Amino acid sequence: MTAIEAKGDSDIPGNEKVLLKKVTIMDNKMIDVKQLHYLDGFRNEENKLILEMESFAVENRIPILDRNAAAFLELQIRFSKPKRVLEIGTAIGYSSIRIARNLSNKAMLHTIEKSEDNIKLAEENISKSGFSEKITLYKGDALEIMPNLSSKYDFIFLDADKEDYKRLFDYSLMLLKKKGTLFVDNLLWHGFAAASHVPKQYKTSTRMIREFNKVFLNQQNLYSAILTIGDGIGLAVKTGKRNKKK
Ligand SMILES: C[S@@+](CC[C@H](N)C(=O)[O-])C[C@H]1O[C@@H](n2cnc3c(N)ncnc32)[C@H](O)[C@@H]1O
Repeated sequence: MTAIEAKGDSDIPGNEKVLLKKVTIMDNKMIDVKQLHYLDGFRNEENKLILEMESFAVENRIPILDRNAAAFLELQIRFSKPKRVLEIGTAIGYSSIRIARNLSNKAMLHTIEKSEDNIKLAEENISKSGFSEKITLYKGDALEIMPNLSSKYDFIFLDADKEDYKRLFDYSLMLLKKKGTLFVDNLLWHGFAAASHVPKQYKTSTRMIREFNKVFLNQQNLYSAILTIGDGIGLAVKTGKRNKKK
């Protein structure tokens, strides 16, 4: 789910126009509306705060993780059972809470946010969630905070400004343990990563995402893939040696 919408698509040709329209209408989910509604019929989210946060994010145009991508993130946390998780980009604490509720007993989440408005909202939501003891919120720019973090992490979730992705990725690689998981959001960037026409206001971010995707998929020491879940999820595991698929 995201607050960003494609505007003025009259000059977007053929299929891309359809794709971007779908993306806009459907809160940027690159999947058919019917299928989404069908799957939504099975949704049994009981946590009222999670549902409230989803509505709040839509109403206030705050970008949070697409709820299918969030379900996938929760599964990854359950599968990999990380002891230490780092999130870069807390926003209002939605994904932080979804991570925290899947952590094992002694596991912890460190999350970084630079927007003062979002920090205030995240603190309120984390406090309401009952997971305050599992979550530590670092306030400030991840580009300044990450170089000062000393302990490594089993799982890193990158979901910050796209312009900063490459540098945040480099820091993430340094902070990720061997066999650790890296989970990155927005790698299809509302459909623009694959589009031949990109609206002016998305040109820079789209270029950054395209460059990032090349690096992400060709990085030594990472076994990586980009999946068409939500807005495009990058998933990677840190390997010990040069990444070669057999
Ligand atoms: C897409 S939102 C995060 C959504 C959140 N992960 C969720 O799914 O609920 C991105 C957030 O990252 C924050 N951010 C962007 N660049 C950052 C940086 N360099 N350091 C810290 N926070 C950053 C923004 O202020 C924004 O709140």
